[in-house]
Amino acid sequence: GPRLFGARQNSKGWDLTDTAHLAAIEAARAPHLTAIFDARPRIAGPVAGGQRLDVVNPATGEHVGNLIPAAQPDAEMALAGARVWDAAAPERAEVLRRAADLYEAEFGAIFALLAREAGKSLPDAVAELREAVDFLRYYADQGQALTAAPRGVFTCISPWNFPLAIFTGQIAAALVAGNAVLAKPAEQTPLIATLAVDLLHKAGVPQTALQLLPGDGRVGAMLTSDPRVNGVAFTGSTETALIIRRAMAANLDPAAPLIAETGGLNAMVVDSTALPEQAVRDILASSFQSAGQRCSALRCLYVQEDVAENLLEMLFGAMDELRPGNPWHLATDVGPVIDAEARDAIAAYVDTARAGGRVLKEMTVPNAGTFIAPAVIRVSGIEQMEREIFGPILHVATFRAADLDKVIGAVNATGYGLTFGLHTRIDDRVQRVVDRLHVGNIYVNRNQIGAVVGSQPFGGEGLSGTGPKAGGPDYLARFTAQPAPEVDP
Ligand code: NAD
Ligand code: ALA
Repeated sequence: GPRLFGARQNSKGWDLTDTAHLAAIEAARAPHLTAIFDARPRIAGPVAGGQRLDVVNPATGEHVGNLIPAAQPDAEMALAGARVWDAAAPERAEVLRRAADLYEAEFGAIFALLAREAGKSLPDAVAELREAVDFLRYYADQGQALTAAPRGVFTCISPWNFPLAIFTGQIAAALVAGNAVLAKPAEQTPLIATLAVDLLHKAGVPQTALQLLPGDGRVGAMLTSDPRVNGVAFTGSTETALIIRRAMAANLDPAAPLIAETGGLNAMVVDSTALPEQAVRDILASSFQSAGQRCSALRCLYVQEDVAENLLEMLFGAMDELRPGNPWHLATDVGPVIDAEARDAIAAYVDTARAGGRVLKEMTVPNAGTFIAPAVIRVSGIEQMEREIFGPILHVATFRAADLDKVIGAVNATGYGLTFGLHTRIDDRVQRVVDRLHVGNIYVNRNQIGAVVGSQPFGGEGLSGTGPKAGGPDYLARFTAQPAPEVDP
């Protein structure tokens, strides 16, 4: 079981209801409102670099920074220069703890970049920094007594929707186990990744143990198909995970692991015994927080037929209270989607649903940047959804109490299995769902996003991921050459 259980502490974070905290955040962010940031490879040698690219603010279109992506010679230089981190495990853990402190100290720049580069509202940014810090400290605690050898070179590939937390979590796990890390952040969010790597280096991670190769999927392909790579940690879409698995087939090490955390088609069931006010609050958070751009987000809500009309009326009323806008502003609770490509794809999807008369509710959003109006679309069931729509779009179906097993069957039949929400006051129903449903994380009578490191290990089944769960006691062993030894509690 997890060592130090009980002694571990999650980051205290920032309290947005406390005016002193808010004032401190405002002051620390202010100098970064108009700053231009730069991202470029951090490799153990001279950088060749590709053609410079603009990084833009999705809420405003404003120029936030410049990206020099990694080119083929940079990938080659990084692969040749990568060295496992030969410090003792307790020393590696101490460096990660130091990095956690540096992250917390840099909250002004981090919150500013999360808003300006990734479109994150302040509550989302606070949660994300806290999660990144938690990953650093949790894996430090878990890893400091590791005796197993590192695997060697680990490629870590992350998505834009948690450009700090997931980026940091993968790297921290690979590093505390002693691996040499090649980090490939998403092309949409290289600035925050550069800031994070600089803080990790400043904390004491050697340049040869952690190298940063920003760029798009082509850079990721170079870093997953090479036979010198001994393992890959990937978080992103299910399609990309399958491409990476094929690329790794060329690898000479047949045991090289692929740890993949991927997409979901997540459902929630609200039955007639649920408390409607609580259910509505949790539906709103699960569907529209982070503009729905969480792998864990609620996509398909099943409401028991007899309470559906009332619940949806309450939900639509509550949606009218949401404030979409520029995430820099404290009052904003729904920011933009990540870029024009995402906006156009989601907008086309909603257009089709609207033409079919299936849009039940749609909000209005600022006419700038890449906003998508939070919307609710009627479906007959989750089987009508062909793919994950990665934005603030909630689908709603109704069910009869006698058909709960059919709902569970339909959710299982999607092949995805990430999160599931259940609102009920009948304990037997909770047990029935737990026994039959194939998903990684089930949340009862609460929202289904924002798993807490160390308390709610996070990860899916089937098309949603390979496991082991991130932020849980089994994660680190996959980054070592042999299973971690059992340790006494
Ligand atoms: P994506 O798959 O498009 O990109 C993810 C990363 O893979 C990026 O860094 C990208 O550059 C890289 N990549 C793309 N092609 C590659 C290739 N051929 N070889 C190697 N790397 C390649 O996903 P995205 O759009 O950035 O992120 C959204 C997706 O991530 C959603 O499906 C979401 O559900 C999923 N996600 C899952 C989790 C989880 O924990 N399960 C968490 C967050 C996001
Ligand atoms: N861990 C993130 C969540 O639970 C993805 O929302």
